[in-house]
Amino acid sequence: GQGPANPVNQLGFKAVAKHTLDKVVVPEGYSAQIIYALGDPLTPQAPAFRNDGTDTAFDQRAGDHHDGIEWFGLDAQGKPSTAAALRGLLAMNHEATTDEKLTSFFIHADGGKASLPRPAAEVDKELMIHGLSVVEVQSDGKRWSYKPASAFNRRITTMTEAEIHGPARGSEHLVTKYDASATKARGTLNNCGSGKTPWGTYVSGEENWFGYFFRDAKDDAARKKDKQVQALIRYGRKAGAASRHGWESAGPQDQYVRWNNSAIGASAKEDYRNEMNTFGYVVELDPYDSKAALRKRTALGRMGHENITFARVSAGQPVVAYMGDDARGEYIYKFVSDAKWDPADANAANRLAAGDKYLNKGTLFAARFKDDGTGEWLELSMKNPVIANSSYFEFKSDADIAIFTRLAADAVGATKMDRPEWGGVNPRNGEVYITLTNNSNRTVATADAANPRVYTDAKAGKEQKGNVNGHIIRLAEKQPQEATFRWDIYLFASEAGADRGKVNLSNLTDDNDLSSPDGLVFSQATGLCWIQTDDGAYTDVTNCMLLAAMPGRVGDGGAKTLSYGDKQVKTYVGKEQSAATFKRFLVGPKGAEITGITETPDGRALFINIQHPGENTKMANVTDPSKYESQWPANAGYGNGKRPRSATIVITRNDGGVIGT
Ligand code: FEO
Ligand code: CA
Ligand code: CA
Ligand code: CA
Repeated sequence: GQGPANPVNQLGFKAVAKHTLDKVVVPEGYSAQIIYALGDPLTPQAPAFRNDGTDTAFDQRAGDHHDGIEWFGLDAQGKPSTAAALRGLLAMNHEATTDEKLTSFFIHADGGKASLPRPAAEVDKELMIHGLSVVEVQSDGKRWSYKPASAFNRRITTMTEAEIHGPARGSEHLVTKYDASATKARGTLNNCGSGKTPWGTYVSGEENWFGYFFRDAKDDAARKKDKQVQALIRYGRKAGAASRHGWESAGPQDQYVRWNNSAIGASAKEDYRNEMNTFGYVVELDPYDSKAALRKRTALGRMGHENITFARVSAGQPVVAYMGDDARGEYIYKFVSDAKWDPADANAANRLAAGDKYLNKGTLFAARFKDDGTGEWLELSMKNPVIANSSYFEFKSDADIAIFTRLAADAVGATKMDRPEWGGVNPRNGEVYITLTNNSNRTVATADAANPRVYTDAKAGKEQKGNVNGHIIRLAEKQPQEATFRWDIYLFASEAGADRGKVNLSNLTDDNDLSSPDGLVFSQATGLCWIQTDDGAYTDVTNCMLLAAMPGRVGDGGAKTLSYGDKQVKTYVGKEQSAATFKRFLVGPKGAEITGITETPDGRALFINIQHPGENTKMANVTDPSKYESQWPANAGYGNGKRPRSATIVITRNDGGVIGT
């Protein structure tokens, strides 16, 4: 549809103050309720979660590190409903796990083994706490709860079979011992941001998957005739790279060895050299069908995917999606489908067939931001001679571009950004907002119009390198499929007290100051823009937060020049903020990131995820709750034990009204 259902024009709540308490604080007149936490049973067979590190069967429980989340309504008969607001499914990502020195210490009784080789019993649990979940939830009109025995409940883990779709299907680079035809792969990993397709399925981005793979110090030599050495390095795996959890060390069995990039045999059909190429995609799930296979949509490229946000669809026009690759100096991408939108597909009976139609064939682009306030989308396909004739990397086909996407974007000279995280499309005008969370590698020498801010004044006791607090860039296109755009910087995140001329460039105050914007989602009900933080720079003053904004439009501010000694950087900034346009709505518990946000279609229930509370706890203190950084959600009355747990909360207004208005 076009435009929010019930557009609001003011922020009707009192700003929440910054705090460092171990609890969730929402505005006066609102309530937050915990409904679904790490370890909660998803089948009648799974025992209640003890939360003391002795629990098993995580393939039948909520996974860890709840992240992107989307609502899918159900009517009273349990059929898909776009209008339902009291019963539905929540599909979500379980990105990672709170860890120290290889081990996910809160899920092992004694913290686990922090050295190699890792015990198989510990790795088996860790393999199962990553992935996705689907859980049924309902409201009785006052309280929300999840249904532990719902037939819709589902877990997808690092070991669940997935289908490969799009240009990379059948590629030689995806041939594995598991599937010599390169049409199937196992699992999904480090799923971060999410999206909802115009045809009603869930899409999820595989983000920091490369860190789970080991590479032997001698691997460059072993692969010396293999162009993948260049790609492995470009995707963060230099020879000698250790893996995050040492899963490859747990034994000779296939489920462990697959994490070893250097387990090279006589041919790719017999070894594991291509396992890593089966991760890094957008994956699509039909949350209403608990049996349908996960589909890896390779046409959307392989990168450190954050979320996927769709442009407003128009009949007879392509379907367009925007994506960020979250690492320092990576790119912003756009996908334009070959197929033209048929509004009947909004209610497609076979939702994954609609996914095949729109997401398997199309063109990928990477963004170049120019210093005159315009930009262009650079085509990543064999039709672009810069790629077809590249001397930087040998691209033989669109399959190669789908698998080695970062190298294609390098080849065309896209703009290196300050860590692109979530994107959102303003339902009022179609403008695209993308958070750039921070970038410690940004220097005065590399500052450019789209990434213009570099901290040059050291602040005692704090890391003040590069773009410390992040910013939010926005794009205006005449049509979503256009190859050009106008842009400006909607918001510079900052501490309220920072220098107004150099750092606090959006005039933030105690009502709305923030650091490291990450999640960003526009409400389809109200048009409000919700912004979430994943911060380490301002956490001495405040835990991470959720804010609500009423943004204007690209070009509503003006040009601004930032000076660094002899160097001048001209940029374009949106209008300054005030408490009327931007306000803090929630502050979370200690050590937690606030991430993932979705709502019922009436805008009266807002679901968000509290990720990794207590993540700064030391493993040595795992059996001593008094030394935990956080005891949330136990200290809010939820569940057994005191170990902190990632969890979904639902926020409602005490008078039943629309959130934020
Ligand atoms: Fe998982 Fe870029 O955040
Ligand atoms: Ca994120
Ligand atoms: Ca982040
Ligand atoms: Ca995270």
